[in-house]
Amino acid sequence: MCGIVGYTGNKQAQDIVLDSLKKLEYRGYDSSGIALKEDKLVICKKEGPISNMEEILPKSNSSLAIAHTRWATHGVPSDANAHPHADADNSVAVVHNGTIDNYLDIRENLEEEGYKFVSESDSEILPILISKYYAGDLVEALHNSLSDIQGIFTIAVIHENHPDEIVAVRHETPLIIGLGNSENFVASDIYAVLKYTQQIIYPDDNQIVRVTPESIDLFDSSLKPLEYVVETVEKYTEVAEKGGYEHFMLKEIFEQPKALQDSQTELFIDNPLEGLSLNWKIGSISIVACGTSYHAGLVGKYVIEQLTAIPVSVDYSSEFRYAAPVQGVGGILSSRPLVVLISQSGETADTLAAARAAKQQGCYTIAVCNVPGSRITREVDGVIITKSGQEIGVAATKTFLTQMQALYVLGTHLAFNSGSLDHPQLKLWESEIRKLPSKITQVLNSSEGIKSLVPNFVNAKSVFFVGRNINYPLALEGALKLKEISYIHAEGYPAGELKHGPLALLGEDTPIIAVAMQDHTYSKLLSNIEEMSARKAPVITLCQKGDQHVPKISDKYFEIPEIDPVLSPFPVAVFMQLLSYYIAHELGTDIDKPRNLAKSVTVE
Ligand code: AGP
Repeated sequence: MCGIVGYTGNKQAQDIVLDSLKKLEYRGYDSSGIALKEDKLVICKKEGPISNMEEILPKSNSSLAIAHTRWATHGVPSDANAHPHADADNSVAVVHNGTIDNYLDIRENLEEEGYKFVSESDSEILPILISKYYAGDLVEALHNSLSDIQGIFTIAVIHENHPDEIVAVRHETPLIIGLGNSENFVASDIYAVLKYTQQIIYPDDNQIVRVTPESIDLFDSSLKPLEYVVETVEKYTEVAEKGGYEHFMLKEIFEQPKALQDSQTELFIDNPLEGLSLNWKIGSISIVACGTSYHAGLVGKYVIEQLTAIPVSVDYSSEFRYAAPVQGVGGILSSRPLVVLISQSGETADTLAAARAAKQQGCYTIAVCNVPGSRITREVDGVIITKSGQEIGVAATKTFLTQMQALYVLGTHLAFNSGSLDHPQLKLWESEIRKLPSKITQVLNSSEGIKSLVPNFVNAKSVFFVGRNINYPLALEGALKLKEISYIHAEGYPAGELKHGPLALLGEDTPIIAVAMQDHTYSKLLSNIEEMSARKAPVITLCQKGDQHVPKISDKYFEIPEIDPVLSPFPVAVFMQLLSYYIAHELGTDIDKPRNLAKSVTVE
C-alpha cells in the first residue's frame, strides 16, 4: 500500500525524507513524490521508481517535507495521479494512504463551486477541501475537511503559511510519529524512521496530530487536546542490504532456520503462552487471515483439531468480517469463542476489520504477528509475536514458517491446558519442533536439486499443486508463491478433488507438484498420482526420504528430510518457496516487488 513519510526539524529535510521513503519501497508502489517548503511549496512527483523522481528533484535546503510512494487504487499510475496533491495555488500539499469512498460526490460539489481537478485520484479532493476550510489554523482546516469524507485514510498535510508544521490524521490505516531532538517524523510505518529514532507515538483512529521540530500536539475528533504516550520500540537490525543474496526473498528463505530458532526462544520459555490467559473451556476456534497467512491458518486447523478436538474454522478476513456472527458448536455459544488473527504485517485492512468484528461479537481475540506495535497488536486481547525479523520481499516466506510454528505451539498449549497432552508429551512435541531449523537447513542445502526442476515449469500454461490433509494448505501456498512472483497461473487443490473437474484441464503442458507424505492419506495420494500421469500431465512429487513407491510412478521427485508427517509442512514450504523463486528468476520477473502487489495491504 502507499507509504508516507514527513520530516520537520533542524536539518535538511530532502535527503532524510528520501532515505526514509526508500525504506518503504518494499511495500509496493508505482509512483512517488515529495513536497518541500521553500518560499512557496515545491512539489516534485513522478511515475515509476523513486529514482525517477530523484532525477528531476531540484536540491533544496528546506527543513520541512512530506513524501509518498503510491500503490494505485483510483487512477492509473501516472505523474498527475502521484502524490503529493495540491490545491490550485500550491498553498496546501497532501499525501494520503487509503481510499475515499465518497470522493466522486465531493469532487462534483467542488467542481460546481468552480474548483479544478488535474488528476483521476480520489486523494486530490483533500488539498482542495483543506484549502477551502483554511482560515489560519491547519489543524482546524483538516478537522473540518474530515467531516466531509468517508473511507479509510492516513493523511499528512503541509501549508505554505506554516513553515515548520506537519498535520496528520489516521482512520484505520497506519500512522506513527517519531520523536527526535529538535526534529520530528511522521510515517505510515515504523521501518521508515527507526534509523533516526526509537521513540514512537501511535495516534489512535481519528486523532489529529500537529508536529513541529519542538512540539507534538494531539487532539481528539472534537479537537480536545490529548495526552500522548511515547513508546520505545526495538531498533530493527539494518536489513537494507541483501547480505550477498540477489533478492530479499532469497535472503529471507535462507534466514528461515534462524527465524524459527529466534521465535522458539520466546515460545519455549516455561509456560510460553501463559500470558494469553487461555484458561477457559474453549468451545470453538476461528482462524482469520489473508493470503499466505490464511494458509498458515489452514495448517494450524489440522494441528489444533488433532491435538485438542476443538472445532477450528478458517476464514479469509475479507469474508469473515461480513459473515454471520461466530457460532459455537451446534450454533450455541457454549463458551467464549477464540478468534486467532494471523498477519505478518499487522496492518492488513481486512484482518484488522475482522479483529474488530470478532471483538464486537464478544470473542476473545489473539493475533499472530511479526511486527511489534503494529495496529493489530494494539487491538486484540493477546499477541504471539513471531521473531522473523523484518521481511522485505512481498512474497511471505520466513513469516509463514514462524506463523505455523506459533500455531503448533498454540495447539500443544491448548492441549496441555485441557489435559489432552500430558507433560512428557508436551516436551516431546517441543523437542520435535526444536529440530525444525536443522530440517529446514537440509532442504536449503538441496537447493540445487530444486533449481534443476525449473525447466519443467517455465513454459507451463498452468501449474497444479496437490496435497492431502495437512499438506493441502501447502498446495495452496505453493500455487500462491508461483503466481505472485512468476506470474504463471497456478492452482492448489486437495488431491482427491481433481477428478471432480480439474482433471479436464490436465495434459502435457500442465505440470503438477504433488505432496506425498507417508501419513494416513499416502496410499490415496499415490492413486492420485497415477490418475494424473494417465492424463499425460508431468508429475513432480515431494516425498519422504527413502520412499520406494513415488520414484516408480512420478516423472520426477524430490525427497524431503526424515520428519514426522505432521511437521512436514515446514520443509515442504521451503521447497515451494525455492521452486517458485528459481522459476521467477529464470523468467526475470521483479521477485521482491511483483507487479500489482504490496507487502502490506492496508486498503480493503
Ligand atoms: C503472500 O506471499 C502475500 N504477500 C500475501 O498473500 C500476504 O500473505 C497477505 O497479504 C497477508 O498479509 P499479512 O500477513 O501481512 O496480513
